[in-house]
Amino acid sequence: MFLDRIKPLDAILATAQKKSLQRSLGWLQLTLLGIGCVIGTGIFVLTAVGAQKAGPGLMVAFAIAGLVCIVAALCYAEIAAMIPVAGSAYTYSYATMGEFFAWTVGWALIMEYAIAASAVSVGWSGYFNGTVLGGMGIELPVWLSAGPLAFGGAEGGFINLPALIIALVVTALLVVGTSESAKVNAVLVAIKVTALTAFVALTLTSSDFDTSHFNPFLPAGVFGGWGTGVGAVGAAATMFFAYVGFDAVSTAAEETKDPQKNVPIGLVGSLLFCTVFYILVAAGAIGTIGGQPIMDAMNLPLEAGSPELARQCAMPQYADALVCSKEPLAHVLKMLGFSTIGNLIGLAAFIALPSVILVLIFGQTRIFFVMSRDGLLPEALSRVHPRFKTPHIVTLITGLAVAIGAAFFPVGQLADISNAGTLYAFLMVAIAVLLLRVKDPERKRHFKVPFVWVIAPLTIIGCVLLFFNLPIAAMLFLPGWGAIGVVIYMLYSRSHSHLGRGIVEVVDDVEGEETMVPIHPDHN
Ligand code: ALA
Repeated sequence: MFLDRIKPLDAILATAQKKSLQRSLGWLQLTLLGIGCVIGTGIFVLTAVGAQKAGPGLMVAFAIAGLVCIVAALCYAEIAAMIPVAGSAYTYSYATMGEFFAWTVGWALIMEYAIAASAVSVGWSGYFNGTVLGGMGIELPVWLSAGPLAFGGAEGGFINLPALIIALVVTALLVVGTSESAKVNAVLVAIKVTALTAFVALTLTSSDFDTSHFNPFLPAGVFGGWGTGVGAVGAAATMFFAYVGFDAVSTAAEETKDPQKNVPIGLVGSLLFCTVFYILVAAGAIGTIGGQPIMDAMNLPLEAGSPELARQCAMPQYADALVCSKEPLAHVLKMLGFSTIGNLIGLAAFIALPSVILVLIFGQTRIFFVMSRDGLLPEALSRVHPRFKTPHIVTLITGLAVAIGAAFFPVGQLADISNAGTLYAFLMVAIAVLLLRVKDPERKRHFKVPFVWVIAPLTIIGCVLLFFNLPIAAMLFLPGWGAIGVVIYMLYSRSHSHLGRGIVEVVDDVEGEETMVPIHPDHN
């Protein structure tokens, strides 16, 4: 039975041991790595979307989403330090829950990374249009700067051309083999952190800061109602996006000195740092220019990205509203009279966001790559370019899909859909940690989750809670995408699986050597 196809952990570990990277990273590098992958469209753009869902409750939303990510990060860390190979949650599930569940996780991760890259591209486009083009006195017409599609109606545009172009440019860089160096990452982290620090310092000390802007604090309540995606928890489900990307830190566990100490410090440290920063940014933005949602006739926040919200935002009384801005942080500072610094913040987003797109598309292609090397997707996909030594076919397919998503959908809805996939993957990782503790308690763990029987269940509960507070369209996307995945699995992957055909092939990277381990499973 295919449900019994479990990849032997020893075979997976054989690759990791062969690779045996030098343990050179300390907690500071890990923290920087985490911050570099995490800070992006979530805080620079979705702040407006989060305020539309929860008003000042956005601050609570950041705290809830940050907490779920911290407990999930600890689970990730244990398993990543134990199985330090590419493919992250997909590989972990293959070794614990078997091929079918691993397939569903890999399939969800493909969706997560690709759609997240689309969302960040759309976020970048907002700053490109507002700060860069706006600074040059150029205004792109709406039909060229916004997508036409939004679940439930049109956002008013035809194509988001800048978002499409940045996605294609990043894809081209990945095809020729660009990867981000630690030095570039450190510079980008410095740019992002400086921008956010300036924002926090200027807003919190501004004479416009007025605590009455926090009243009502929870205009849409804590739970806004099932499927509405509003309220503090609904906003948390969206703002979860602002933390996505930290798994990059856990996958570096193998290269970490004293991982038992440094991995949790790096993961929890970068997430805590971001959580505090995000809450301060939200406080600064809302405390100065206000951030109450625009309500419908039933006194519920209008759906972010919906045509009705776009219509309201076009009215003069909302021209300066935080919830209507596509470059909210720069917008706030411009409203406070700090136009130059506002433009510099816009510039920081313009410079730093493409590296987040790069990390996400890179992550996606590596999942695709590992799945195709396992025989679950056509092997032609994992062909490596003779000159560039990159998996150019999957990169191009991914890049095109990302560009199409970016061109036609609004950022909030893309982020929500991506979150649905990520929450599923995190949930499976938490289950995998518990399963491995039971099935393989003696195996050496370089890092153990403290109080695992509390932390892992908390992760599971947190993921379920956030998932069921996503807007209904995002929630339904996951089973829809999953159903397509199951059909492909049944029609193609099940019979082509290398494990099913008796070979365990473990390849950790595009240029990595293959480890072939023949085994004798029951062919089904
Ligand atoms: N966390 C990343 C961002 O906010 C994906 O852009």
